[in-house]
Amino acid sequence: KKTALIMAGGKGERFWPKSRQSLPKQFLSLTNDGKTMIQLTVERILPLVSLEDIYIATNTNYKHLVLEQLPGIPAENILCEPVGRNTAPCIGLGAVHIQRKYEDAIMIVLPSDHLIKYNDIFTETLANACDVAEINANLVTIGITPNYPETGYGYIKADKNKQLKKTYSVERFVEKPDFNLAKTYVESGDYYWNSGMFIWKLSSILENMKNFMSDTYNGLLKIQAAIKTPEEENVLKNIFPEFVSDSIDYGIMEKASGIYLIPGNFGWDDVGSWLAVERVKGTDDAQNTLTGNVIALNTSHCTIEGKKRLIAALGLKDLIIVDTDDALLIADKNSAGDIKKILAVLRDTD
Ligand code: GDD
Ligand code: MG
Repeated sequence: KKTALIMAGGKGERFWPKSRQSLPKQFLSLTNDGKTMIQLTVERILPLVSLEDIYIATNTNYKHLVLEQLPGIPAENILCEPVGRNTAPCIGLGAVHIQRKYEDAIMIVLPSDHLIKYNDIFTETLANACDVAEINANLVTIGITPNYPETGYGYIKADKNKQLKKTYSVERFVEKPDFNLAKTYVESGDYYWNSGMFIWKLSSILENMKNFMSDTYNGLLKIQAAIKTPEEENVLKNIFPEFVSDSIDYGIMEKASGIYLIPGNFGWDDVGSWLAVERVKGTDDAQNTLTGNVIALNTSHCTIEGKKRLIAALGLKDLIIVDTDDALLIADKNSAGDIKKILAVLRDTD
């Protein structure tokens, strides 16, 4: 049996002002088809997992967005965290819920805010990953061939001499190395980026949680025992906030054994900042990416997104302009990675 857990509780702040605390990136549409990132994520997994076996883990604050954007998902499959404790507790919560339905099953863990170009190859890759996850207590991840030393990703060293079906045995998992280390990894040719997608049996991931995050594991068992009882909400509210905030990458993947990697050549894009939009939507003859009501004259290499108002651009180059009802961003492309600095100022002046 194949099930899926879509992680959708992240703050996804780098698309400010389009993304807000109340509307993170996974609930935005950044493509031309108008579908939101989480809607595309669900669509992409449907060839392998049926709707009633897809679970969404999110923050209580975003429950209404999930209900609105994904009306096909059973409401009881929307798991709401009272506070964010990063991806390890999120995955644990998913696992104990799914285990109430199926004693053991394959769990495909997916981020909700990535784009993939070739869905057929994605399906095929995941199907292979599921086969390998069926064996022993294997933990399977999908690796992306890196083309620059990104420090926001996890790196995985694969041992190409040790193959299992179409996967490689993983020698080492390093979450978010510094720039110099990342550079040597990329140059070595032995490392892949971690795509943040994981495939394993419920029993495999829970066993690893028991070994490496025992306090969280014990709490999860209490949460599990309360599912569908009158105490469910209270127990979750009391126990979940006690969990140590930890990503699955630091909490489990860096420590566990029996990890396998399958290369994913399906046009993966983690759409990390406004700079990614031109890659995703494409550019016009003047190398601009214009969305909404925009006139651009003598303007090139700009990403401009309007909402209600007409935006007229004259003689601009290398700018990002994003208009919303109550906030307007005008940024140099070189500063697109620094959006978080604006958010820090906003928080200080709150
Ligand atoms: N439910 C829930 N609760 N979801 C969460 C939480 C949480 O507390 N925190 C994050 N998420 C969701 C995000 O919405 C996103 O879909 C996914 O989990 C991954 O979280 P990110 O915060 O985006 O992780 P990251 O980008 O720093 O790093 C991960 O992804 C990289 C690839 O994009 C790691 O797995 C890296 O190793 C990987 O390279
Ligand atoms: Mg991310």
